[in-house]
Amino acid sequence: MRRLQGENDELRRSGAFKQALHLEGPMAPRIRMEGHGEVLVLSSNNYLGLANHPEVIAAGVAGLRAFGAGTASVRFICGTLTAHRDLEQGLARFLGTEAALSYVSCWNANTGLLPVLAGDGDTLISDELNHASIIDACRLTGKGVERRVYRHGDMQQLAEILKESAQRRARIVVTDGVFSMEGDLAPLPDLVTLCQKHDALLVVDDSHGLGVLGKRGAGTAEHFGLAGKIDVITGTLGKALGGAAGGFVAGPSALVDHLFQKSRPLLFSNALPATVAASALKALEVLERDPGLLARLRENTRYFREKLLVLGFAPLPGESAIIPILIGATAKAMAVSQALLKRRVFVTGFGYPVVPEGKARIRIQMCAAFTRADLDEALAALKEVKAELGL
Ligand SMILES: Cc1ncc(COP(=O)(O)O)c(C=O)c1O
Repeated sequence: MRRLQGENDELRRSGAFKQALHLEGPMAPRIRMEGHGEVLVLSSNNYLGLANHPEVIAAGVAGLRAFGAGTASVRFICGTLTAHRDLEQGLARFLGTEAALSYVSCWNANTGLLPVLAGDGDTLISDELNHASIIDACRLTGKGVERRVYRHGDMQQLAEILKESAQRRARIVVTDGVFSMEGDLAPLPDLVTLCQKHDALLVVDDSHGLGVLGKRGAGTAEHFGLAGKIDVITGTLGKALGGAAGGFVAGPSALVDHLFQKSRPLLFSNALPATVAASALKALEVLERDPGLLARLRENTRYFREKLLVLGFAPLPGESAIIPILIGATAKAMAVSQALLKRRVFVTGFGYPVVPEGKARIRIQMCAAFTRADLDEALAALKEVKAELGL
């Protein structure tokens, strides 16, 4: 404990210690933050503004009433609620897969999937900037799995790895659809072509693409016209689709059936609470019913990016709803975040170890529910902070 205390003190001294900020109400474009009053939120994954949507809340309440808190056990022991089946069927239909399986988080979905999918004699190939849950999922695979990493988006290196591993039993390529810290998209057209050419399986974690990209909001594959061409999709329900928690694996029935036999988070841990299953399914329904949500999210993103450039910021380019601005040192990114919060604009600074040393950044995230006035207020705060901190 003394060592941990020392490390905490060091983080405090360097300005990189993360403080819990307490919210006094639901996530929304404007929230009440303890000690700060009303704050504009540009750091939530609440892309469609559904976290506080009346129908989503009502569905969660109805789910709680209908099914209680849960089965007090894991699914194969005490049964699967029909609320889970409804959600899973809804996700499979929306994504155009044969089946889907829910987990309590996408973290669990990824760590429950890859050790089952990749076995002895297989090669598992991962983009270097994949989300931490994919990195940990790769680490959880067995000794007989060869694990390879390719430079971010480097299709030439991936092609070489696929050639080198031609004799392996199977090759599995895994990538984020939208990279969470960069906001850029995986080069899915090239990934699909390469995987088809080399008979490799493609797994896409579309946590930040779902409800954001594509004509219907079905994600990165739909954005590229590749719906139905991805072997396995994982994603979260904790971002655009209601924002509570939960994740899923969507793909062939044989895979989903097999996960139900072997996936450790499912075998040894309780299922998603019914209230969350019901609210996430409602969020999906709202998304499908109201294409205006996607249109507003995209227009807000376009406007904000355009105005950032006018102010002299150089956000990383990208088509998602994530707008990162590189700052450099971790402490400076945290200082920018604090200076914005003083102006009642909530934008989180990210530093090491979430992103590499020297590449600390603030990450702005768009929401369909922002008004133009909200966006202009945030831009005015960013302008002031730029001048104050010499960005
Ligand atoms: C790409 C990606 N995968 C997985 C996750 C984890 O999602 P969950 O909160 O459902 O565990 C995240 C969340 O940050 C993510 O960005």
